[in-house]
Amino acid sequence: MCNFLAIDDFSSNELESLLKLASKLKQEHFSTGNKPVLLGKTLAIIFQKPSLRTRVSFEMAMYHLGGKSIYMAPQEIELGKRESVPDIARVLDGYVDAIMARVFQYEQILELAKHTSIPVINGLSNYNHPCQALGDMLTIMELREKLQELRLTFVGDGNNVATSLSLICALMGIHFTIASPKGYELKDDVVKRVKNLSSKGKVDFVQMTDPIAAVSNADIIYTDAWTSMGQEQETKHRQQLFQRYQVNQDLVSKAKSNVIVMHDLPAKRGEEITSEVADGPNSVIFQQAHNRMHSAKAILYTLLID
Ligand code: CP
Ligand code: NVA
Repeated sequence: MCNFLAIDDFSSNELESLLKLASKLKQEHFSTGNKPVLLGKTLAIIFQKPSLRTRVSFEMAMYHLGGKSIYMAPQEIELGKRESVPDIARVLDGYVDAIMARVFQYEQILELAKHTSIPVINGLSNYNHPCQALGDMLTIMELREKLQELRLTFVGDGNNVATSLSLICALMGIHFTIASPKGYELKDDVVKRVKNLSSKGKVDFVQMTDPIAAVSNADIIYTDAWTSMGQEQETKHRQQLFQRYQVNQDLVSKAKSNVIVMHDLPAKRGEEITSEVADGPNSVIFQQAHNRMHSAKAILYTLLID
């Protein structure tokens, strides 16, 4: 493993190993304590967009493992504006041991990786969010003994989070259903890849527009913001269009009684999820957020040591 750019760059076995390592590192964190295995290593963090979880979980992961991180805010680097992406990649190559970047265009992550010999981690792009999917899978594995036969339903926009989640479900053997308004489905190329992986793994992949039909029989309901970072000018339109995709108590009651409710956060409470559900007994949103740090450790460990 030389980068962490997209979920389907990895096989099921590789993802399983990463998840096992994340779980082991989490156990260590709460028992014997973290070992300083990244002593002397530095991670450069380049963000074009805001972040709470991704930034803090990776910075703390580096700190706990004895390494160091350097955060660069959007206005400092101005990726591709003040300086070209290949030039930034080549410069950082000589300073640090790995780069994590959150960008508007996925192509910029690929370009960073192309022009540097050090590992690059995708901290979210317009297209995907693989770090989130890994942390979410760790959470699901903690909550359910067996992944096979689980049914996860994503309700909302077929966005970056839905993309990585659909791919990790296909690879790990979880049935995946997505309910989105017409025109806001997963991208065609994602659908093609998920279908291909799902048929190999013998799991279902279903797309529909009806959120109620989609959650009936669901073991897990997942939702995300209707308007992603960079789409702010579409907020009003999306608020109207996605209204019936709100994960509220009524929708949750249509799924299995022990359904797990997930959200990557930040949540727009009262839009895609109500506070009643987000703070309710089925919600695991903060466990998900905390697992971002443990899964970040597994990514860093694998890229920088193995
Ligand atoms: N879920 C997630 O990636 O959160 P941040 O945008 O706060 O990093
Ligand atoms: N889809 C959201 C995820 C935030 C973590 C966004 O891109 O803004």
